[in-house]
Amino acid sequence: MSSILLLTASPRPGSFSTQIAIELAERLQAVNPAGALIHRDLAAYPLPHMDGGFTTGIHKPAEDLTAAEAAALRLSDELVAEILAADTLVIGTAFINFNITSNLKSWIDYIGRAGKTFQYTASGLEGLAKGKKAYIVLASGGIYSEGPAAALDHATPYLKSVLAFIGITDVEVIRVEGVNRGADGAANAVTAARARIARIAA
Ligand SMILES: Cc1cc2nc3c(=O)[nH]c(=O)nc-3n(C[C@H](O)[C@H](O)[C@H](O)COP(=O)(O)O)c2cc1C
Repeated sequence: MSSILLLTASPRPGSFSTQIAIELAERLQAVNPAGALIHRDLAAYPLPHMDGGFTTGIHKPAEDLTAAEAAALRLSDELVAEILAADTLVIGTAFINFNITSNLKSWIDYIGRAGKTFQYTASGLEGLAKGKKAYIVLASGGIYSEGPAAALDHATPYLKSVLAFIGITDVEVIRVEGVNRGADGAANAVTAARARIARIAA
């Protein structure tokens, strides 16, 4: 049995990253229909930004937590449990000002937890979310896979770094790129992304 955690993060109505990420997750599930598909829609149900309760709570024993700290850690624990239970992650995000959406960044802030998703050992950092496959679906107005703007793609290296930090190194990036390039930009980008996900979940 293989379970999928789908994260979508674009607040834009008609989001291409959301559409393609959903299609990919559904195709992957169709390959293993017995597995669960959990969809966390970070755009429709944004997480609160991490606050003082979270930043102090993570350093305290459970019995010393204030109500605000306990609530922040409950949310974090729930998100951590979702990622640890998944075999596959599908992360859809819009490319906003050269990076990921802020609501996806909030999710990352809650799931990077010492002792739960990573730990430091005598031999260095160990990611604790090993053995998972991740797909990143990234929709952008311009082209960043190659050419002069490639160095401005801070989303892909950032997401790969975060995933590697927690132990996920098997990562594929599906770009829906150049959607603002000319009259056919969006249609061409979606067609290319659909062809790609059809090959992935063949
Ligand atoms: C506030 C804002 C900032 C954006 N910044 C960029 C950018 O830095 N580079 C780019 O190529 N496109 C940028 N775009 C265009 C989006 O990447 C594009 O609309 C993409 O389709 C968004 O993903 P979505 O379709 O999943 O919503 C921006 C769009 C918005 C609304």
